[in-house]
Amino acid sequence: MSWAPHPASNTATLLIPHNVTDGPKFCHECRTAGKGVHWVRVEELSEGLVVQLSYPRRISEYAAEVLRDVYALGVGEFAVERGQLVLLGKGFRNVVFLVETERGQAALKVRRDDAPSTSVGREATVHAAANRAGVGPLLLGSGEHSLLMGVVVGTPLHRWLPEASRDDVRAAVRKALMQCRALDLAGIDHGELARAHKHVLVTEGPEVKIIDFGAARFTPRPGNVASFLRYLLSREVKPLLVEKLGNLEIDLHLLREYKRTLSEEAFRAVLRSIGLA
Ligand SMILES: Nc1ncnc2c1ncn2[C@@H]1O[C@H](COP(=O)(O)OP(=O)(O)O)[C@@H](O)[C@H]1O
Ligand SMILES: [Mg+2]
Repeated sequence: MSWAPHPASNTATLLIPHNVTDGPKFCHECRTAGKGVHWVRVEELSEGLVVQLSYPRRISEYAAEVLRDVYALGVGEFAVERGQLVLLGKGFRNVVFLVETERGQAALKVRRDDAPSTSVGREATVHAAANRAGVGPLLLGSGEHSLLMGVVVGTPLHRWLPEASRDDVRAAVRKALMQCRALDLAGIDHGELARAHKHVLVTEGPEVKIIDFGAARFTPRPGNVASFLRYLLSREVKPLLVEKLGNLEIDLHLLREYKRTLSEEAFRAVLRSIGLA
């Protein structure tokens, strides 16, 4: 069977048209595909590769629906290694493929065929709102089952901490907290920052990227700063931080004041209390 391109389709929303080449670049996040990786044009994907779009059950009907998104989102090529589509990561609800678009490499996040819901509408809305608050990889577009976004080349915070210098740790934790605050101010709760293991990545700089808005929601009482602080104080992370920053006690009274007011003053007080301001 051949996979002819679908005619221009209205099943996807392209937030940033790929024919705009002088727009903001997201290539600083691009990963250079390693040796052994080659690129296969979407029209030339074999049936065996296309069916990999349906994970983990390899259902060809579902793969065909995802392929519609792929065309509508303007994905040109997939990275392939040893006969497999290259995965940037796997979650409980999604798999993330490395793809090429006219604007450069991108991450295609596709709902797994065994996810409770295979539609991405709500996630796309919250992810786009997070972007407007300056948080998260740039969302380039969304289809029925998939989201197209910038590639994040980073290391989960807890794995990055042991090797990092004191100054870098201070900078990264501070930036992570500022992004949590930006989400708080935008009325978005990320939903998974108390278990931030896979969702707060440190990139070159150090810069920080918060990913995965699959569990995020709009709420008048977001608790990102509080959740992320809870993560920093968790058994796995706190000892690593204490080693770099010295003792780390959070004044719960200050935190409650911040949660109540979301004021800059209260946020600064929280930062000061852990030696970050
Ligand atoms: N934009 C991205 N760039 C690079 N890797 C990503 C990107 N988004 C997700 N990943 C990888 O894929 C994994 C699963 O993605 P995630 O959004 O967390 O899916 P799920 O909602 O299923 O948890 C992440 O833990 C990460 O390793
Ligand atoms: Mg996840």
